[in-house]
Amino acid sequence: MQKLSAKYLYLDSNGIGKVQKQEELMRGVRIGITVLVIAVVALGLFVGCKSKEAKTQVGIVLPTKDEPRWIQDQTRFMDALKAAGFSAKVLFSQGDSAKEKANVEALVSEGIKVLIICPHDGTAAAASADLAAKAGVKVISYDRLIRDTVNVDYYVTFDSVEVGAAWGKYLISKVPQGKKGNNLYLYAGAASDNNSFLFFEGAWRELQPKIADGTFIVRNSDKAVALANKAKLTRDEMAQIIGQVTTNWNFNDAKSKAEANLTAVGPAAKGEVFICAPNDGTARAIADAFAADKAVTKYYITGQDAEIASLQYIIDGKQSMTVLKDVRTLVKDAINAAVAYMGGKTPPVTTTYNNGKKDVPAKPTAIVTVTQENFIKEIIDSGYWPADKFTGLEKLKK
Ligand code: BGC
Repeated sequence: MQKLSAKYLYLDSNGIGKVQKQEELMRGVRIGITVLVIAVVALGLFVGCKSKEAKTQVGIVLPTKDEPRWIQDQTRFMDALKAAGFSAKVLFSQGDSAKEKANVEALVSEGIKVLIICPHDGTAAAASADLAAKAGVKVISYDRLIRDTVNVDYYVTFDSVEVGAAWGKYLISKVPQGKKGNNLYLYAGAASDNNSFLFFEGAWRELQPKIADGTFIVRNSDKAVALANKAKLTRDEMAQIIGQVTTNWNFNDAKSKAEANLTAVGPAAKGEVFICAPNDGTARAIADAFAADKAVTKYYITGQDAEIASLQYIIDGKQSMTVLKDVRTLVKDAINAAVAYMGGKTPPVTTTYNNGKKDVPAKPTAIVTVTQENFIKEIIDSGYWPADKFTGLEKLKK
């Protein structure tokens, strides 16, 4: 453009006619406009590419910030994503399926290719999976299974049946040889979470024969008592028991349910007790309620998640065990699956889980029971948590 106006001025100063001057000018303007248009388009393409690259490739939706378990997952995701080198975003649903759906919609509109989602409510989340699939997004169900839709491509999970089985085995191992009539209290997760059924199935697999032979007496569920002789329960039968003993994955619900149970039973149901608690947060709440009851002389209580607060309870003898589900492995599996999908491949499959509509391909990860005995090895030496998060570690066996 500068050149053009210089030429025009030069021509003008050398006496070139007006028409000639205007033609020259128009031709120059046309060239100038063409150059400008090319430049603008090129810049637009460049900016477009840049912003496309910067867009979120993987969307991660977790159920709530209010439980340390999911903060663990967020932290482990952030660590792993830095290394994976692609763009991702983590959003929380705060125990609200509507918020969860809005999160998924927002991520889909950002152009994600893969959605990694741990549903708040397994059935309600089907709508989110459907809308993501409609936009061509691959859906990975994370830790909890999305139910009743074909639009789940993969399930990254721990072996949840074995989590429940670990509780049952642990409690049975604490029964004095041959002693019958031991007090058993059952608690469960939220009925809206498919895992609650898997955990319960595993626990029942181990505990039921010992309930049937009188080793245990279930003190807080007449439905469980009525089904005592049935080794394999239907989902509906499990739902009946879970309905009586659910904590809704909520600490306050867990505490008030335990207190109500203790108020309802007589002294024969106290003394030494065995408590099947469904995760660490609820285990601490239930343990506190039982510890506060003077008629309870000793209790054994289960958990899961290896939360720092519960590990401290284990060191202090206030919680008996937890199940370590190494979130680092789960996160790695989820990221590997996302990378596979983005490269047009499929992730490894070792089994399937039926979600009511489909056998969803999966590769479950093994779990580890942690007690005072193997705490140092499994928690500290494995690098899961650093020693400075705890007090009293010196009391434990090396
Ligand atoms: C997870 C547990 C967690 C619970 C409550 C389950 O689906 O597997 O690790 O403690 O939800 O959030």
